[in-house]
Amino acid sequence: MKNIINVLLINGPNLNLLGTRETEIYGNSTLNDLLKSLEMQAKELNISLHHIQSNAEHVLINKIHSSKNNINYIIINPAAFTHTSIAIRDALIAVDIPFIEVHISNIYSRENFRSHSWLSDISKGVICGLGLDGYYWALKTISNRLASLK
Ligand code: DQA
Repeated sequence: MKNIINVLLINGPNLNLLGTRETEIYGNSTLNDLLKSLEMQAKELNISLHHIQSNAEHVLINKIHSSKNNINYIIINPAAFTHTSIAIRDALIAVDIPFIEVHISNIYSRENFRSHSWLSDISKGVICGLGLDGYYWALKTISNRLASLK
């Protein structure tokens, strides 16, 4: 039997409002809808998917710290913290867990302040503008890569 891969999905502030928040940008699916289908996909890929959504920066940082010895890969949509949080950047560097940054919207086609991310240069890759599919591609990529690459 193949080893189980532990993936932590982190969703930042306001993503608890998916499905009701700016639906023309973020769509009509809720966070719960997303989690349900991601969990199904994770199961097929032999991935154990863990999830945290928080509106509080320190909660996300504490979760990253406590992942050090039990998470193989992180998928993070830092939401607005993308553009502000050197603290989340430092936490990800500290634990040295590879991660993929995901954005539902195309942050490069919106306000200028969204074009800068404090995480992209230290990420394994960035997916943005593909809607919720971006999370699925991140999961699939992790599954494809983890056999040989960290
Ligand atoms: C977002 C883009 C961010 O600029 C924004 O603050 C979010 C969501 C996205 O998924 O498109 O909250 O990360």
